[in-house]
Amino acid sequence: DNLHPFSEAILSWYSSNARDLPWRQTQDPYVIWLSEIILQQTRVAQGLPYFHKLLNTFPTINHLAEADEALLFRNWQGLGYYSRARNLHKTAKLIAQKYHGLFPQTYHELVKLPGIGPYTAAAIASFSFGEAVPVVDGNVFRILARYFGIEIDIMQSSARKEFTEIAQQLIPTDYAATFNQAIMEFGSLQCSPVPNCGTCPLRLSCVAFETQRTQLLPNKSKS
Ligand code: ADE
Repeated sequence: DNLHPFSEAILSWYSSNARDLPWRQTQDPYVIWLSEIILQQTRVAQGLPYFHKLLNTFPTINHLAEADEALLFRNWQGLGYYSRARNLHKTAKLIAQKYHGLFPQTYHELVKLPGIGPYTAAAIASFSFGEAVPVVDGNVFRILARYFGIEIDIMQSSARKEFTEIAQQLIPTDYAATFNQAIMEFGSLQCSPVPNCGTCPLRLSCVAFETQRTQLLPNKSKS
């Protein structure tokens, strides 16, 4: 096929570096959704026990929809940002009532739901349904800015649109889910805020590495 060298390198890196995380063993949109909401403001290690506890207590979206919100809040205790839990409950009820308990299957429909923004909609659409829409979050800003030497100020509101357009060019149609998992994992393990360039197989084609600007990218205006 016809992958960009970046995409090929990311997929290859991921094939030997992927962690075995439980939400990567399923295509159930409810499980994917729950994991991504937890992981929005929470690290993987901290989020894992909550993921298991919440899935045990609310094994399906109908369980969550029918639950008392107080029970959800008790299980959420320690994660903080309770608007996440409130939106989970609200969206569970909406999907149970208006969609007969079945998740919408496209990015376009998913992004309309409470608490589901562009990142989470892309995660569910790609991981569960194979839609070739890129996840774009701080990890993706950082990786693309460094690798391609992109100087866009990530504090500008136009940044998301610009990085999304670049990521859309890179995502392989046939490996959308794997590519999105790979780029999240790469941002977490390799191209972290303080990057591990010494062990990075992409460094010889990385503009930031070649120009010694990994500390300066992504470009964040001072406020
Ligand atoms: N952080 C957010 N989403 C993630 C995912 N799918 N895998 C690992 N870390 C993540």
